[in-house]
Amino acid sequence: MDAKRLAGEKAVEYVEDGMILGLGTGSTVYWSILKLAEFVQRGLTVSCVATSKKTEVLATELGIQLRDIFECRGLDLTIDGADEIDENFNLIKGGGGALFREKMVASISRRFIVVVDDSKCVSTLGRFVLPVEIVQFGWNITSNRVAELDCVPKLRMEKDVPFVTDNGNYILDCTFNTINDPQGLDRKLNAITGVVDNGLFVGMADTAIVGGQDSVIAKVNNTRL
Ligand code: 5RP
Repeated sequence: MDAKRLAGEKAVEYVEDGMILGLGTGSTVYWSILKLAEFVQRGLTVSCVATSKKTEVLATELGIQLRDIFECRGLDLTIDGADEIDENFNLIKGGGGALFREKMVASISRRFIVVVDDSKCVSTLGRFVLPVEIVQFGWNITSNRVAELDCVPKLRMEKDVPFVTDNGNYILDCTFNTINDPQGLDRKLNAITGVVDNGLFVGMADTAIVGGQDSVIAKVNNTRL
């Protein structure tokens, strides 16, 4: 079976009746959402907060009950994908452009499960570009300041126009190659005027479910126990 599917479906085993869930975005968590919908059809009661308009549409089509984050003080569990995960459970996210909502949702979750295929596991983050969400006003000024952190930022495009996030912002895809201090970089990026947030998720993941060719393993982040 597909590695993403194995990981995505496995995560749903952690869902319990009555939970309020965060639903991530992407092609791995897609499988979690499909599996969750099967359980809901069989009688599981959950309500969910979506991390993107794409996920909102998918969950609604599948009959999963959604609620606004505004109504939630906390979530029981969030399941989401990642573009990279290191040995300390730090992540790069935002390949799908939903990093801000994903981080907001994860930040109010008691448990955060990351679902990935094994190609996403790295010893040091940075092979994948780091997405940084920035406001449109003065975006080139923000981009120049981001570049001062020793990276090459590139405005994400969709066809011939800049990609716009669900929050109405732009994304800079930043090539660092190696990110040796994710925590420090996270702080530096978010201190730049014009930066909304960046795709580094430091110390947030509790469990990583990693799919391989025909097996899946769950790794627990002991520092979060
Ligand atoms: C979207 C994300 C996704 O979780 C990340 O890009 C992984 O996606 P996929 O599961 O499709 O590989 O952060 O903003």
